[in-house]
Amino acid sequence: MDTDQHNIDLKKLPKHIAIIMDGNGRWAKSRNQVRVFGHKNGVNSVREVTEACAELGVQYLTLYAFSTENWDRPKFEVNTLMKLLVDTLKKEINTLNKNDISLQAIGDLSKLPEKTRKALLEGIEATKTNSRMKLILALNYSSKWEIAECIKKIAIQYADGVLDLQDINDKCICENLETKGIPDPELMIRTSGEQRISNFLLYQLAYAELYFTETMWPDFNKAALYKAIENFQERERRFGKTSEQLKNA
Ligand code: IPE
Ligand code: IPE
Ligand code: MG
Repeated sequence: MDTDQHNIDLKKLPKHIAIIMDGNGRWAKSRNQVRVFGHKNGVNSVREVTEACAELGVQYLTLYAFSTENWDRPKFEVNTLMKLLVDTLKKEINTLNKNDISLQAIGDLSKLPEKTRKALLEGIEATKTNSRMKLILALNYSSKWEIAECIKKIAIQYADGVLDLQDINDKCICENLETKGIPDPELMIRTSGEQRISNFLLYQLAYAELYFTETMWPDFNKAALYKAIENFQERERRFGKTSEQLKNA
């Protein structure tokens, strides 16, 4: 099958897709390999899905790469993941530039190992003028952390007298989240069969369509992405209204 074939309506493309890339460990285990073998293979899916999104015209792609809870994994796995990030970021800058993709990160970057943070900041700097798509890596990210930080920022502005109580609303909250300036994801994909959010973009996913697939992340490819977007396009997004209202609009 031609993997470029799809039935996606390009006029109704989600602007922002967010993905919980899950199942690397189980993918490796099912091949009698160590977990980190799965992470290494997961990089190919990152490349393929990123390129596919850019080719389609998706404007923002957020990938959950490491949660604050993932620090609790065995030390060897955490260290390997952090090294893999450095290698991947260095290797993929050319691909990002070739595809006119700019890199961004959300999460508490101050807690990342120095080498990982450096590679990340270099990647962000080297791609900052690219404009076709934004690739946002959620790294040492957790939604509860992000929301607490957001509340702190708002509290400071209120205490300083630069923000009135009645101006604390959705717009104000969005401006103080890590995702400032980024529209909410319309589609959230999670691979590996788990059906949970795992502390990912809790606020921003308020009205996202959730898509769960049994496919493990290292097996998630272009065709699987197309299937998820096609499924998204079959849904009726009502935003609280009735189906009739939408049909008559
Ligand atoms: C996702 O795969 C990658 C990260 C969380 C970094 P997992 O490593 O969670 O794989 P499973 O869920 O154990 O199979
Ligand atoms: C979520 O996957 C985090 C990332 C994909 C980076 P996990 O595998 O850590 O999630 P849980 O712990 O199974 O919910
Ligand atoms: Mg997992």
